[in-house]
Amino acid sequence: MAQYFENDPTLLSKEFKFNTTIQDVFLTFYSNRGVFSKSSLDFGTRLLLEQIDFLKGRVLDFGCGYGPVGIFLKKKFPIEVDMIDINKRCLHLALKNAKENKVSVNIFESNIYENIKDEYDFIVTNPPIRVGKKILYDILLGAYDHLKKEGILFFVIHKDQGAKSVLKDLSQVYKTEVLIKDKGFFVIKCSKILTS
Ligand SMILES: C[S@@+](CC[C@H](N)C(=O)[O-])C[C@H]1O[C@@H](n2cnc3c(N)ncnc32)[C@H](O)[C@@H]1O
Repeated sequence: MAQYFENDPTLLSKEFKFNTTIQDVFLTFYSNRGVFSKSSLDFGTRLLLEQIDFLKGRVLDFGCGYGPVGIFLKKKFPIEVDMIDINKRCLHLALKNAKENKVSVNIFESNIYENIKDEYDFIVTNPPIRVGKKILYDILLGAYDHLKKEGILFFVIHKDQGAKSVLKDLSQVYKTEVLIKDKGFFVIKCSKILTS
């Protein structure tokens, strides 16, 4: 069986819709087989989004899936949002969901940062884990080069997915802060400016 991040044209399509409220924002999402946390908003994604109380400028939703991160953030804050994923089914759903929730966002395919030309004030992600450590680090450490001078990376990771060692490794490069720990999930803020 293909992993959720792989394009699998043989995977039958069975779209359905669900509603959810994040902070005070009511959202409707189309979802489908073969996408991450297809039936409801992932606990880690919700925890991540609940920690974000203000954003401005340009924001990248890395690994957008069916779109909850970028669509919520665009509804909530006065920002420009780019959303990327490697999976075509995710991109199709994210486009449909942006329309459904009446937000204007840019959605495009990118393998890691391959098609990213710009620098962002914020990068927000519930990163793919099953892709392995090398790609995970390409995403989290690679964010550094796609953030503006004072840019910030927000991400969520579970302790069973190596949260502590990832935090330690990222602390070599970013100023890191654990915003919350809940049910084993860590929401981590990485600021580009190192203050020693
Ligand atoms: C944990 S899911 C998060 C999905 C969505 N943001 C959410 O919170 O429900 C990670 C996403 O990263 C995408 N992904 C995996 N490998 C990728 C890569 N190399 N480049 C871009 N996106 C990738 C997957 O397709 C998946 O949609």
